[in-house]
Amino acid sequence: MRATDSPIVLETILGTKEAIALRRSLLAWYKKSGRDLPWRCTRDPYAIWISEVMLQQTQVKTVIPYYERWLAAFPTVEALAAASQTQVLKLWEGLGYYSRARNLHRAAQQVVTEFGGIFPKTLEETVSLPGIGRTTAGGILSAAFNAPTAILDGNVKRVLARLVALDRPPARAMKQLWAISEGLIDPKHSRDFNQAIMDLGATVCTAKQPACLVCPWRSHCQAYNLGTQLELPMREASRPIPHKIIGVAVIRDEAGKILIDRRKQEGLLGGLWEFPGGKLESGESLEDCVRREIKEELDLEIAVDDLLICLDHAYTHFKVTLNVFNCRYVSGEAKAIACDEIRWVTLDEIEEYPFPKANGRIIEALKKQV
Ligand code: ADE
Repeated sequence: MRATDSPIVLETILGTKEAIALRRSLLAWYKKSGRDLPWRCTRDPYAIWISEVMLQQTQVKTVIPYYERWLAAFPTVEALAAASQTQVLKLWEGLGYYSRARNLHRAAQQVVTEFGGIFPKTLEETVSLPGIGRTTAGGILSAAFNAPTAILDGNVKRVLARLVALDRPPARAMKQLWAISEGLIDPKHSRDFNQAIMDLGATVCTAKQPACLVCPWRSHCQAYNLGTQLELPMREASRPIPHKIIGVAVIRDEAGKILIDRRKQEGLLGGLWEFPGGKLESGESLEDCVRREIKEELDLEIAVDDLLICLDHAYTHFKVTLNVFNCRYVSGEAKAIACDEIRWVTLDEIEEYPFPKANGRIIEALKKQV
């Protein structure tokens, strides 16, 4: 047997009476204790798709107002496809992982051009759309069409890892976990089953304080029976989080307008607007870093004045410290060398542009300065 095969997993769960008992007890629990969430009141695959993408890396309570604003602004896939990327990113502003919004926009255009505006019904076609992986596709198709498509998001991985007392981190047992999720899903009640297992993970089988005493799966749960629920799922050894020190320029021209640039499409914050700047090099002063970055990226000469604000921001995989300087334009014509677009704007106009979250505090500091 290979190291990645887990005998406990496949023999205990699949194709047995236990799967039937697990479905029954989970669905009964969901009927009584499931959450009443806005995307559960619709069968519109477009609305469900938006919710699933927003929920990929974001908690339910954060998503709800974004979901409602989004559907008010773009009620149909056609409306989304016809919007500009700036409008789309502005509505996403603050949710993070902006590639999700860029992919939604591209995928909406694909649904309109390739599928005649009708959201696909097969897993294969659905995962061909940008930003839709197997679990998002499973979530959409089960919720919209009651299709028997399994899911495996973070909450579901934790529930299943505990159910079978998985002996390795979930990332090393993806094949087995998918097999369990597929074996467990209720073929007649796939919609409710998937929603229920997500709710179980979010409200009962939580990471830190699982409420095992009210869990419908307690008697079947190997982790509970072994008393190892707090140790599972097993974690990978964590890597140190990189910390980037950034010099940022708020450049004003003679008329008091401020220079902003739009980041290239790639990367975490692609397509968003920002105040230009870049990473401090070793041995360099922050002022020299700002002057160098502005020359390299925009071909402008500037004078660097006082520090406007210094702020820290934690992204999931790294931290940044932004050292923001008030700067004056000296000479040159701004060129979009390392960005997609450049604009000179007033402080009031800045509000119309989508910025990464950390920039909100820079804008506040600018307003206080006036
Ligand atoms: N996370 C991902 N999809 C979800 C859903 N439909 N309901 C609650 N949380 C979710």
